[in-house]
Amino acid sequence: MAKIMAWNDQTKSFCATELRQNRLVSFPTETVYGLGANALSDEAVLKVFRAKGRPQTDPLIVHVHSIEVAFLHTAMTPFQSKCFSTLMEKFSPGPLTLIVNVGPNLSPHVTGGSSTVGIRIPDHPVALELIKECRLPVAAPSANTFGHVSPTSAQHVMDDLGKNNELTIIESDHPCQIGIESTVVKIEDEDKLVVLRPGAISLLQIKDCLLEEGIEFEISNRVSYIKNNNKKNMDSPGQLITHYAPRINTYLLSENRDELKEHSLSFDNDMLLKTIFIDFNGEYLKQKNRFLKYFDLSSKGDLDEASSNLFSVLRESENIDGGEYIILNAFCSGEGNDLANAIFDRMYRATSGKYAKIWRK
Ligand code: TXA
Ligand code: MG
Repeated sequence: MAKIMAWNDQTKSFCATELRQNRLVSFPTETVYGLGANALSDEAVLKVFRAKGRPQTDPLIVHVHSIEVAFLHTAMTPFQSKCFSTLMEKFSPGPLTLIVNVGPNLSPHVTGGSSTVGIRIPDHPVALELIKECRLPVAAPSANTFGHVSPTSAQHVMDDLGKNNELTIIESDHPCQIGIESTVVKIEDEDKLVVLRPGAISLLQIKDCLLEEGIEFEISNRVSYIKNNNKKNMDSPGQLITHYAPRINTYLLSENRDELKEHSLSFDNDMLLKTIFIDFNGEYLKQKNRFLKYFDLSSKGDLDEASSNLFSVLRESENIDGGEYIILNAFCSGEGNDLANAIFDRMYRATSGKYAKIWRK
C-alpha cells in the first residue's frame, strides 16, 4: 500500500531520501498533484510510467526550483535561452511549462524518446521545499492513472495509485489553488513558439512578456483534440482527446444545434434522475431537482473558483451511488477569457467531445 504523510520537517527529509533512493513521492503543486521521481534515474522514471499505466512515448515534465538548475538540464539554442529566461523570470514559480532542447544528464525516458524536455518551477511551498531538499530534478506527471481525472488532493492520489508499495503521498494544508494543469509552451528553433496545452497563463500574457523584451517571434496555438485512434501528427501525447475522463459517461450540455449534430444524446427525465449535473453561476439551479445530484463549480460565477473545483467535483461525481451520467454546463465554450478556454479544454476532454441535450421541463 502507498502511505499518506502530513507535511512537516520529518516528512520532508523522509520524502527527499525516498526520491534519492529512486522511489516515488506524490506532492501537491499549485496546479494538481504530481507523481515525482528522480529525473536522473532510468529506474525511477520507469516506475512512474508503470505506476500510471502511461505509454513511455508520453514525455514527463521535469520540476526544478530555479532557472539556474533548469539550465543544467537543457541544451538550449540562443533563441530558446532568451525566451526561456524572459518567460521564467516573469512567470515562475508558476503554472508554466516550457519545452526546450534536452541536456545530456536526464534519464532519456523523461523525454519520451524526443530531443526536448518540459521544465517547470511550481509555485507551491511543499513542491519547492521538497525539490530543494532532495537536490534532484524531479520528473512528475499528474498523479492519476493514465486517462483519468487529475488529482487535487492526497486522497485522490490514494484512490488511483494506493496499491503502489513504493509510493509516499504528501498531504498539505496548502491547496492546489489553480486546480488545472500548467500551460505548456514549446520554444522551437529560430523564432517560433507554440502553445500545446492551455492553462492559467495565457498566450496573450506570453506574447506581451516577450514583446516587452524586444524579442522577435511568432506564437501560435497548437492545442488540438485528436481522437484516440489517430495518433499521427501529434505534438504531444497529452493532446489525445480522451484525457481527464471520469469513470462514468460524461457529456457537455449544449443548446447549440451545430454541436448537437455529432455525438449527441438526448436526456429524458428518467435519465436525468441518474445524472449528476455540474453547473456554473447557478444557471440551472431552478432545475436542480430534476437531477440525481447537482453541483455548482462556482455559484458566484468566479472562474478561478471554477478551475480550482473542476477536478475534485468530477471525481466526487463519478462516485455517487446510482449515478450513470455526468452533464457539464459548457458555460465557457465561447471566445474570450483565457482561463475559461483552459477550463473548457479540460471539460471537452473529460467528455471526449460528447454533447447532451436535456428535455425541457
Ligand atoms: O501542472 C502540471 O503541469 C502538472 C504538475 C504536476 O506539474 N503536470 C502535468 O504533467 O500535467 P502531465 O505529464 O500530466 O502532462 C504534461 C503534458 C503532457 O501532455 C505531455 O505530453 C506534455 O506535457 N509534454 C511534456 N514534455 C513534453 C515534450 N518534451 N514535448 C512535448 N510535450 C511534452
Ligand atoms: Mg496528466
